[in-house]
Amino acid sequence: MRGLEGKVVVVTGGAGGIGSETCRRFAEAGAAVAVLDRDEAAARTLAERIAGTGASGVAVGVDLTDLPATQAAVAEVEEALGPIDVLINNAGWDVFTPFLKSEPDFWAKIIDINLRGVLNVTHPVLSRMAERGSGRIVSIASDAARVGSSGESVYAACKAGLIALSKTLAREHARQGITFNVVCPGVTATDMLEVFLEGAGDKEKLRTAFTRAVPMGRLGRPEDVPGAILFFASDDAAFITGQVISVSGGLTMHG
Ligand SMILES: NC(=O)c1ccc[n+]([C@@H]2O[C@H](COP(=O)([O-])OP(=O)(O)OC[C@H]3O[C@@H](n4cnc5c(N)ncnc54)[C@H](O)[C@@H]3O)[C@@H](O)[C@H]2O)c1
Repeated sequence: MRGLEGKVVVVTGGAGGIGSETCRRFAEAGAAVAVLDRDEAAARTLAERIAGTGASGVAVGVDLTDLPATQAAVAEVEEALGPIDVLINNAGWDVFTPFLKSEPDFWAKIIDINLRGVLNVTHPVLSRMAERGSGRIVSIASDAARVGSSGESVYAACKAGLIALSKTLAREHARQGITFNVVCPGVTATDMLEVFLEGAGDKEKLRTAFTRAVPMGRLGRPEDVPGAILFFASDDAAFITGQVISVSGGLTMHG
């Protein structure tokens, strides 16, 4: 894909399953990668691995639900690597919980991580991109946002919020050359899936049901997702904004 070499890319939740594969692929394409994650040790290990390949990588430990800390993290990235060209909103979290069994504290936690965290990091990054008149923001939502998913009501609402946020910002900043697009993974084998399945009565039964629902007959793998993310961040997608694409083995098919 064209135009990724030398770009400064921030990946939130960069130390996780999909995030670390995404960081690795950006580094391979010649980008300088900032791994933002609340798991600072894992972020550092990944940044060191990236640096070991000859690419530029920095790790910043930050909880994105904390606005001042997130603003400071964005400033730290620009100090270390230069102006941010690309933001990948990838951090997320969920546990299988039917809505009527959920409590307001759980709703607040889900909303803080999956929606407020995105606002907290997008605002300072976008204000810098708007001053410079260029940038790419790709948000990782979920097929749960497009078609619903039992046990994921509040999470799905947050992820649908990311789609609406991205389309709205795509309109507000179209003339500035800043694009906003969304990638929706289906069920993907990462730590988050294991945490999510813990909330279900029979973990293996739900895993089998998820697998059977995928036309391609398998769960997603972390390495399935970065291709779509890198495409939206590349020059090949310069005229594409406000779009949503599923990476889910055909689980959802949209016109
Ligand atoms: N795995 C799936 O089945 C699946 C399906 C659809 C969408 N997604 C989405 O894909 C994205 C990546 O998920 P994953 O499956 O790789 O999960 P993961 O648990 O492997 O990685 C998530 C990362 O986000 C980080 N994180 C969480 N909350 C944070 C916070 N407040 N501040 C900073 N970092 C934080 C975690 O430390 C972790 O490294 C998420 O947005 C998730 O909602 C995943």
